[in-house]
Amino acid sequence: MSQCENYDLFLCNSGAEANENALKLASFETGKSKIIAFERAFHGRTSAAVSVTDNPKINAPLNKQHEVVFLPLNDLDSLEKELSANDIAAVIIEGIQGVGGLDQGSTEFFRGMKKLCTEYGVLLILDEIQSGYGRSGKFFAFQHHDIQPDIITIAKGMANGFPVGGLLISDKIKASYGLLGTTFGGNHLACAAALSVLDVMEEESLIENVNKVSSHFLNRIKEIEEVLIVKGKGLMLGVAFDFSVSELRKSLIFDEHIFTGGSSNPNLLRILPPLSVTPEQIDVFIDALKRVLEKIDNKKKQLN
Ligand SMILES: Cc1ncc(COP(=O)(O)O)c(C=O)c1O
Repeated sequence: MSQCENYDLFLCNSGAEANENALKLASFETGKSKIIAFERAFHGRTSAAVSVTDNPKINAPLNKQHEVVFLPLNDLDSLEKELSANDIAAVIIEGIQGVGGLDQGSTEFFRGMKKLCTEYGVLLILDEIQSGYGRSGKFFAFQHHDIQPDIITIAKGMANGFPVGGLLISDKIKASYGLLGTTFGGNHLACAAALSVLDVMEEESLIENVNKVSSHFLNRIKEIEEVLIVKGKGLMLGVAFDFSVSELRKSLIFDEHIFTGGSSNPNLLRILPPLSVTPEQIDVFIDALKRVLEKIDNKKKQLN
């Protein structure tokens, strides 16, 4: 279903562990240790995974020992400049940034990055932990750009809430016995849950549903004039306003019982509904958002 035929699978227990192993594998493979990541990236909270996460608050001195450089998204010149020093093991990037605020690389950037990585012998790691498993309207978000990463990391929706993570490893990277390992990775319960998710995705045509409901959302959100821009793809969307969404989110949850997400951009409402959400449920959300925005507007008027 993922259309990733030429990959081997290593199973672990969480997203951070998947990225930890991906980074370690890239370092083994290249014999180098420096990593390129992107501004506002989030890749998890363990040692190397948090070091490539652009948030000093969650990096302890221990994590800061890793050699990492953060570059702006969509800047191929700065990427090539870093790669040309020939000391880089891997470039790690999210298919679509989640915690960072739904920004993403352009097709030109993803393709250029892959080409540069191949040229300089650097592994490209696609973190699809949040953007994978159909969320973007394709199985993996990088498939919108028609590239083949060297390593793809997966977790989150993979077993519908049951803890499991994994790495898809290009078969150009040869497996060696005992290089990666974990006690619980690939346990029977996690595998049964992960296989059930794939069955349900197929039986309920969930990727088709993502595309259908996403178009409906994008049409309906146009009715809300306070919205500046909608970022992301499929059902991984960010709705931007010119004010902080903190009060909006509170009112949505307490008054309307609708849970939305925040991000490192305070003005962005993060929308990640279940892949089975219906257009009618999106209508409920849009109507609630209108009511809440009106309430906030009335409050502002009273204060003035
Ligand atoms: C893009 C991305 N990578 C990695 C992780 C870490 O996954 P986990 O919380 O399973 O360790 C997350 C979690 O939010 C994520 O969004």
